[in-house]
Amino acid sequence: MRTRPLLVPLTALALLGSAVVAPQASAAPEAPVLENGRLDWNVKRSFTNYVTGPVAQGKVTTVNPTDLKNFGGHTAYNPPAQTFQDNTSPLKYGFQLNAAKSQLDAKGKGVLAFDGGVRWTGHEKFAPEGQQYGLDVKFSDVKLILDGTSGKISLDYVVRGTNITGDQSALDRKGDDAIFATFTLPEPIKATAGGSFSTSAGDVSKDSGIKTTLTKEGAENVMIGFYKAEQYEDALLDLDLKFKEAPKAKPSPEKPAPSSSSAKPSPEKSVPSSPSVPPAEQGSKKPEGSSVDSKTDNTKIVVPIIATLISLVAIGGALAFVGQQWLPQLLQGMQR
Ligand code: HEM
Repeated sequence: MRTRPLLVPLTALALLGSAVVAPQASAAPEAPVLENGRLDWNVKRSFTNYVTGPVAQGKVTTVNPTDLKNFGGHTAYNPPAQTFQDNTSPLKYGFQLNAAKSQLDAKGKGVLAFDGGVRWTGHEKFAPEGQQYGLDVKFSDVKLILDGTSGKISLDYVVRGTNITGDQSALDRKGDDAIFATFTLPEPIKATAGGSFSTSAGDVSKDSGIKTTLTKEGAENVMIGFYKAEQYEDALLDLDLKFKEAPKAKPSPEKPAPSSSSAKPSPEKSVPSSPSVPPAEQGSKKPEGSSVDSKTDNTKIVVPIIATLISLVAIGGALAFVGQQWLPQLLQGMQR
Protein backbone atom coordinates (compact mmCIF):
# COMPACT_ATOMS: atom_id res chain seq x y z
CA MET A 1 0.00 0.00 0.00
CA ARG A 2 1.21 3.49 -0.90
CA THR A 3 1.54 5.75 2.10
CA ARG A 4 2.80 9.03 0.59
CA PRO A 5 -0.52 10.49 -0.64
CA LEU A 6 -1.76 10.34 2.94
CA LEU A 7 0.70 13.10 3.78
CA VAL A 8 -1.27 15.66 1.77
CA PRO A 9 -4.52 15.65 3.76
CA LEU A 10 -2.71 15.10 7.03
CA THR A 11 -0.44 18.09 6.45
CA ALA A 12 -3.49 20.17 5.53
CA LEU A 13 -5.17 19.16 8.77
CA ALA A 14 -2.07 19.92 10.83
CA LEU A 15 -1.73 23.36 9.26
CA LEU A 16 -5.36 23.99 9.84
CA GLY A 17 -5.14 23.12 13.48
CA SER A 18 -2.30 25.53 13.99
CA ALA A 19 -4.19 28.27 12.11
CA VAL A 20 -7.21 27.87 14.33
CA VAL A 21 -5.28 28.10 17.59
CA ALA A 22 -2.74 30.76 16.40
CA PRO A 23 -3.03 34.08 18.28
CA GLN A 24 -4.69 36.86 16.30
CA ALA A 25 -2.46 39.54 14.80
CA SER A 26 -2.06 42.42 17.21
CA ALA A 27 -2.15 45.99 15.85
CA ALA A 28 1.20 47.79 15.67
CA PRO A 29 1.51 50.72 18.11
CA GLU A 30 0.53 53.98 16.45
CA ALA A 31 2.87 56.95 16.11
CA PRO A 32 2.39 59.83 18.55
CA VAL A 33 -0.22 62.33 17.46
CA LEU A 34 -0.45 66.12 17.66
CA GLU A 35 -1.96 67.49 20.84
CA ASN A 36 -1.84 71.23 20.25
CA GLY A 37 0.27 73.95 18.73
CA ARG A 38 0.42 77.47 17.37
CA LEU A 39 1.81 79.36 14.44
CA ASP A 40 2.97 82.91 15.10
CA TRP A 41 3.34 84.45 11.67
CA ASN A 42 3.77 88.10 10.74
CA VAL A 43 3.07 87.55 6.99
CA LYS A 44 5.55 90.39 6.45
CA ARG A 45 6.20 92.78 9.26
CA SER A 46 6.35 95.88 7.05
CA PHE A 47 2.87 95.09 5.68
CA THR A 48 1.18 95.45 9.07
CA ASN A 49 3.32 98.49 9.80
CA TYR A 50 2.14 100.06 6.53
CA VAL A 51 -1.54 99.19 7.01
CA THR A 52 -1.71 100.49 10.59
CA GLY A 53 0.48 103.52 9.84
CA PRO A 54 -0.10 106.96 8.33
CA VAL A 55 -0.04 105.75 4.69
CA ALA A 56 -2.99 103.33 4.72
CA GLN A 57 -4.45 104.60 8.02
CA GLY A 58 -6.08 101.26 8.53
CA LYS A 59 -6.43 98.44 11.00
CA VAL A 60 -6.02 94.70 11.51
CA THR A 61 -8.74 92.47 12.87
CA THR A 62 -8.34 88.84 13.83
CA VAL A 63 -10.86 86.07 13.37
CA ASN A 64 -11.38 83.86 16.43
CA PRO A 65 -9.39 81.89 17.64
CA THR A 66 -6.39 83.71 16.17
CA ASP A 67 -4.79 85.69 19.01
CA LEU A 68 -2.42 88.62 19.35
CA LYS A 69 -0.27 87.12 22.12
CA ASN A 70 2.91 87.81 20.17
CA PHE A 71 1.76 90.86 18.26
CA GLY A 72 2.98 93.53 20.64
CA GLY A 73 1.90 96.52 18.58
CA HIS A 74 -1.18 98.60 17.88
CA THR A 75 -3.87 97.16 15.68
CA ALA A 76 -5.31 100.42 14.34
CA TYR A 77 -4.05 103.77 13.19
CA ASN A 78 -4.84 106.28 15.91
CA PRO A 79 -2.63 109.39 15.67
CA PRO A 80 -0.78 111.02 17.21
CA ALA A 81 -0.22 108.26 19.78
CA GLN A 82 -0.08 105.56 17.16
CA THR A 83 1.62 106.15 13.89
CA PHE A 84 4.19 103.56 12.81
CA GLN A 85 4.75 100.49 14.95
CA ASP A 86 7.39 100.34 17.64
CA ASN A 87 10.56 98.91 16.10
CA THR A 88 10.67 96.02 18.59
CA SER A 89 7.11 94.78 18.06
CA PRO A 90 6.98 91.28 16.54
CA LEU A 91 3.59 91.95 14.88
CA LYS A 92 2.92 88.21 14.73
CA TYR A 93 -0.57 86.74 14.44
CA GLY A 94 -1.19 83.63 16.55
CA PHE A 95 -2.98 80.93 14.55
CA GLN A 96 -4.18 77.95 16.62
CA LEU A 97 -3.45 74.41 15.52
CA ASN A 98 -6.49 72.29 14.78
CA ALA A 99 -5.05 68.94 15.91
CA ALA A 100 -7.97 66.92 14.57
CA LYS A 101 -7.38 68.22 11.06
CA SER A 102 -3.60 67.92 11.21
CA GLN A 103 -1.35 64.95 10.69
CA LEU A 104 2.38 64.32 10.46
CA ASP A 105 4.09 61.03 9.67
CA ALA A 106 7.36 59.75 11.14
CA LYS A 107 9.37 61.61 8.47
CA GLY A 108 7.73 64.94 9.22
CA LYS A 109 5.51 64.82 6.16
CA GLY A 110 1.95 66.03 6.45
CA VAL A 111 -0.28 69.02 6.97
CA LEU A 112 -0.77 71.28 9.96
CA ALA A 113 -4.11 73.07 9.83
CA PHE A 114 -4.74 76.27 11.77
CA ASP A 115 -7.97 77.89 12.80
CA GLY A 116 -8.72 81.58 12.64
CA GLY A 117 -7.84 84.35 10.25
CA VAL A 118 -6.65 87.95 9.84
CA ARG A 119 -8.07 90.89 7.92
CA TRP A 120 -6.21 94.07 6.98
CA THR A 121 -8.22 97.11 5.91
CA GLY A 122 -7.16 100.65 5.06
CA HIS A 123 -7.08 103.43 2.45
CA GLU A 124 -10.74 104.22 3.07
CA LYS A 125 -10.46 107.36 0.92
CA PHE A 126 -9.44 105.26 -2.06
CA ALA A 127 -12.26 102.73 -1.85
CA PRO A 128 -13.71 101.80 -5.23
CA GLU A 129 -17.41 102.19 -5.99
CA GLY A 130 -19.44 99.79 -3.84
CA GLN A 131 -16.61 98.94 -1.45
CA GLN A 132 -15.61 100.39 1.89
CA TYR A 133 -11.82 100.21 1.65
CA GLY A 134 -9.09 100.86 -0.92
CA LEU A 135 -7.20 97.99 0.73
CA ASP A 136 -9.02 94.96 2.08
CA VAL A 137 -7.08 91.71 2.43
CA LYS A 138 -8.26 88.65 4.34
CA PHE A 139 -6.49 85.34 5.12
CA SER A 140 -8.08 82.19 6.53
CA ASP A 141 -7.69 78.39 6.44
CA VAL A 142 -3.96 78.67 6.99
CA LYS A 143 -2.08 75.40 6.60
CA LEU A 144 1.55 74.39 6.67
CA ILE A 145 2.25 71.66 4.16
CA LEU A 146 5.40 69.90 5.30
CA ASP A 147 7.72 67.38 3.72
CA GLY A 148 10.80 66.93 5.85
CA THR A 149 12.49 70.31 6.02
CA SER A 150 10.57 71.94 3.20
CA GLY A 151 7.37 73.78 3.96
CA LYS A 152 4.64 75.70 2.18
CA ILE A 153 2.11 78.13 3.60
CA SER A 154 -1.28 77.46 2.08
CA LEU A 155 -4.28 79.73 2.69
CA ASP A 156 -7.57 81.06 1.43
CA TYR A 157 -7.49 84.76 0.58
CA VAL A 158 -9.84 87.53 -0.41
CA VAL A 159 -8.32 90.71 -1.86
CA ARG A 160 -10.61 93.67 -2.42
CA GLY A 161 -10.00 97.40 -2.83
CA THR A 162 -8.40 99.44 -5.62
CA ASN A 163 -5.90 97.95 -8.03
CA ILE A 164 -3.51 100.81 -7.39
CA THR A 165 -0.56 99.14 -9.13
CA GLY A 166 -2.65 98.23 -12.16
CA ASP A 167 -5.64 99.65 -13.99
CA GLN A 168 -7.13 101.27 -10.84
CA SER A 169 -10.18 98.99 -11.12
CA ALA A 170 -12.03 97.45 -8.19
CA LEU A 171 -10.38 94.29 -6.94
CA ASP A 172 -12.26 91.17 -5.92
CA ARG A 173 -9.74 88.34 -5.97
CA LYS A 174 -10.14 85.05 -4.18
CA GLY A 175 -7.78 82.15 -3.65
CA ASP A 176 -8.55 78.73 -2.23
CA ASP A 177 -5.66 76.74 -0.76
CA ALA A 178 -3.24 79.10 -2.49
CA ILE A 179 0.47 78.70 -1.76
CA PHE A 180 1.39 82.13 -0.43
CA ALA A 181 4.95 81.42 0.69
CA THR A 182 7.54 78.69 1.23
CA PHE A 183 10.12 78.10 3.96
CA THR A 184 12.75 75.64 5.15
CA LEU A 185 12.76 74.05 8.60
CA PRO A 186 16.13 73.50 10.32
CA GLU A 187 15.23 69.80 10.66
CA PRO A 188 12.25 67.56 9.94
CA ILE A 189 9.65 67.49 12.72
CA LYS A 190 9.88 64.29 14.77
CA ALA A 191 6.80 63.22 16.70
CA THR A 192 7.54 61.81 20.15
CA ALA A 193 4.89 61.07 22.76
CA GLY A 194 4.93 63.92 25.26
CA GLY A 195 7.54 65.71 23.15
CA SER A 196 7.42 69.05 21.43
CA PHE A 197 8.83 71.00 18.50
CA SER A 198 9.68 74.68 18.49
CA THR A 199 11.40 76.92 15.98
CA SER A 200 11.78 79.57 18.67
CA ALA A 201 12.43 77.81 21.94
CA GLY A 202 13.70 81.08 23.49
CA ASP A 203 10.64 83.16 22.78
CA VAL A 204 8.73 84.75 19.98
CA SER A 205 10.29 88.12 19.21
CA LYS A 206 10.50 90.54 16.31
CA ASP A 207 13.31 88.55 14.67
CA SER A 208 12.61 85.02 15.88
CA GLY A 209 11.47 82.19 13.67
CA ILE A 210 12.00 81.10 10.12
CA LYS A 211 12.23 83.35 7.09
CA THR A 212 9.64 82.81 4.41
CA THR A 213 9.84 83.28 0.65
CA LEU A 214 6.81 84.73 -1.11
CA THR A 215 5.51 82.83 -4.11
CA LYS A 216 4.54 84.56 -7.36
CA GLU A 217 0.89 84.21 -6.37
CA GLY A 218 1.57 85.72 -2.94
CA ALA A 219 3.60 88.63 -4.28
CA GLU A 220 1.61 89.47 -7.39
CA ASN A 221 -1.98 88.32 -6.83
CA VAL A 222 -2.34 88.92 -3.13
CA MET A 223 0.07 91.80 -2.53
CA ILE A 224 -0.75 93.27 -5.97
CA GLY A 225 2.89 93.50 -7.04
CA PHE A 226 4.19 95.58 -4.12
CA TYR A 227 6.42 92.62 -3.23
CA LYS A 228 8.56 90.23 -5.25
CA ALA A 229 8.60 86.43 -5.22
CA GLU A 230 11.63 86.29 -2.97
CA GLN A 231 12.74 85.70 0.60
CA TYR A 232 12.23 88.60 2.99
CA GLU A 233 14.12 89.15 6.23
CA ASP A 234 10.96 90.43 7.93
CA ALA A 235 8.58 87.68 6.72
CA LEU A 236 8.85 85.25 9.62
CA LEU A 237 7.03 82.38 11.23
CA ASP A 238 7.42 80.71 14.61
CA LEU A 239 6.00 77.23 15.02
CA ASP A 240 5.27 75.37 18.27
CA LEU A 241 3.83 71.86 18.45
CA LYS A 242 3.09 69.39 21.24
CA PHE A 243 2.65 65.67 20.75
CA LYS A 244 0.82 63.09 22.83
CA GLU A 245 0.69 59.32 22.82
CA ALA A 246 -1.47 57.71 20.16
CA PRO A 247 -4.79 56.54 21.59
CA LYS A 248 -4.82 52.94 22.77
CA ALA A 249 -7.03 50.34 21.07
CA LYS A 250 -10.16 49.83 23.12
CA PRO A 251 -11.38 46.29 23.80
CA SER A 252 -15.09 47.04 23.39
CA PRO A 253 -16.11 48.14 19.90
CA GLU A 254 -19.72 48.76 21.00
CA LYS A 255 -19.50 52.51 21.54
CA PRO A 256 -18.01 54.71 18.78
CA ALA A 257 -14.91 56.48 20.11
CA PRO A 258 -15.28 60.24 20.50
CA SER A 259 -13.28 62.18 17.93
CA SER A 260 -10.24 63.90 19.41
CA SER A 261 -10.07 67.64 19.16
CA SER A 262 -8.20 69.96 21.39
CA ALA A 263 -8.72 72.66 18.82
CA LYS A 264 -11.60 75.03 18.62
CA PRO A 265 -13.93 75.01 15.65
CA SER A 266 -13.02 77.26 12.77
CA PRO A 267 -15.61 79.89 12.04
CA GLU A 268 -14.44 80.11 8.45
CA LYS A 269 -14.46 76.63 6.96
CA SER A 270 -15.03 73.27 8.49
CA VAL A 271 -13.03 70.90 6.31
CA PRO A 272 -9.71 71.95 4.83
CA SER A 273 -8.46 70.38 1.67
CA SER A 274 -4.84 70.24 0.73
CA PRO A 275 -3.62 70.78 -2.79
CA SER A 276 -0.64 68.50 -3.00
CA VAL A 277 -0.69 65.76 -0.41
CA PRO A 278 -2.45 62.41 -0.25
CA PRO A 279 -5.67 62.18 1.79
CA ALA A 280 -3.91 60.50 4.72
CA GLU A 281 -1.89 63.68 5.16
CA GLN A 282 -4.64 66.16 4.54
CA GLY A 283 -5.86 66.16 8.09
CA SER A 284 -8.68 63.76 7.26
CA LYS A 285 -7.88 61.92 10.46
CA LYS A 286 -10.16 59.21 11.71
CA PRO A 287 -11.63 59.51 15.21
CA GLU A 288 -9.16 58.32 17.79
CA GLY A 289 -9.12 54.59 18.45
CA SER A 290 -11.33 53.76 15.51
CA SER A 291 -8.74 52.31 13.12
CA VAL A 292 -7.22 49.87 15.60
CA ASP A 293 -10.59 48.75 16.98
CA SER A 294 -12.14 48.01 13.62
CA LYS A 295 -9.04 46.10 12.45
CA THR A 296 -9.16 43.88 15.53
CA ASP A 297 -12.91 43.31 15.16
CA ASN A 298 -12.60 42.24 11.55
CA THR A 299 -9.79 39.85 12.37
CA LYS A 300 -11.87 38.33 15.17
CA ILE A 301 -14.75 37.53 12.84
CA VAL A 302 -12.97 36.68 9.60
CA VAL A 303 -10.24 34.36 10.92
CA PRO A 304 -12.58 31.76 12.50
CA ILE A 305 -14.86 31.77 9.44
CA ILE A 306 -11.98 31.14 7.04
CA ALA A 307 -10.50 28.52 9.39
CA THR A 308 -13.83 26.66 9.55
CA LEU A 309 -14.21 26.72 5.77
CA ILE A 310 -10.66 25.44 5.22
CA SER A 311 -11.13 22.69 7.80
CA LEU A 312 -14.36 21.52 6.13
CA VAL A 313 -12.62 21.36 2.76
CA ALA A 314 -9.60 19.57 4.24
CA ILE A 315 -11.74 17.03 6.14
CA GLY A 316 -13.75 16.41 2.97
CA GLY A 317 -10.52 15.90 1.02
CA ALA A 318 -9.17 13.55 3.65
CA LEU A 319 -12.38 11.48 3.67
CA ALA A 320 -12.38 11.32 -0.12
CA PHE A 321 -8.78 10.19 -0.10
CA VAL A 322 -9.41 7.52 2.53
CA GLY A 323 -12.45 6.34 0.64
CA GLN A 324 -10.55 6.19 -2.62
CA GLN A 325 -7.61 4.27 -1.12
CA TRP A 326 -9.26 1.88 1.29
CA LEU A 327 -12.86 1.39 0.19
CA PRO A 328 -12.06 -0.88 -2.80
CA GLN A 329 -9.87 -3.05 -0.53
CA LEU A 330 -12.60 -3.21 2.11
CA LEU A 331 -15.21 -4.15 -0.47
CA GLN A 332 -12.89 -6.80 -1.91
CA GLY A 333 -12.35 -8.22 1.55
CA MET A 334 -16.07 -8.30 2.21
CA GLN A 335 -16.72 -10.08 -1.09
CA ARG A 336 -14.19 -12.74 -0.13
C1 HEM B 1 -5.91 95.72 -2.00
C2 HEM B 1 -5.27 96.86 -2.25
C3 HEM B 1 -3.87 97.13 -1.82
C4 HEM B 1 -2.90 96.28 -1.44
C5 HEM B 1 -2.95 94.77 -1.32
C6 HEM B 1 -1.73 97.07 -1.11
C7 HEM B 1 -0.54 96.56 -0.66
C8 HEM B 1 0.58 97.29 -0.40
C9 HEM B 1 1.83 96.74 0.05
C10 HEM B 1 2.08 95.30 0.29
C11 HEM B 1 2.68 97.75 0.20
C12 HEM B 1 4.12 97.65 0.68
C13 HEM B 1 4.14 97.89 2.18
C14 HEM B 1 5.53 97.69 2.77
O1 HEM B 1 5.87 96.55 2.99
O2 HEM B 1 6.21 98.68 3.04
C15 HEM B 1 1.99 98.94 -0.16
C16 HEM B 1 2.55 100.19 -0.15
C17 HEM B 1 1.89 101.29 -0.54
N1 HEM B 1 0.59 101.38 -0.91
FE1 HEM B 1 -0.74 99.92 -1.02
N2 HEM B 1 -2.02 98.37 -1.30
C18 HEM B 1 -3.30 98.45 -1.73
C19 HEM B 1 -4.00 99.57 -2.03
C20 HEM B 1 -3.46 100.80 -2.03
C21 HEM B 1 -4.18 101.97 -2.33
C22 HEM B 1 -5.66 102.05 -2.71
C23 HEM B 1 -3.33 102.99 -2.23
C24 HEM B 1 -3.75 104.39 -2.45
C25 HEM B 1 -3.01 105.42 -2.45
C26 HEM B 1 -2.05 102.45 -1.83
C27 HEM B 1 -0.90 103.17 -1.62
C28 HEM B 1 0.31 102.67 -1.20
C29 HEM B 1 1.50 103.44 -1.00
C30 HEM B 1 1.63 104.91 -1.18
C31 HEM B 1 2.50 102.58 -0.58
C32 HEM B 1 3.92 102.91 -0.23
C33 HEM B 1 4.02 103.01 1.26
C34 HEM B 1 5.43 103.22 1.74
O3 HEM B 1 6.39 102.95 1.02
O4 HEM B 1 5.57 103.68 2.87
N3 HEM B 1 -2.16 101.13 -1.72
N4 HEM B 1 0.71 98.63 -0.51
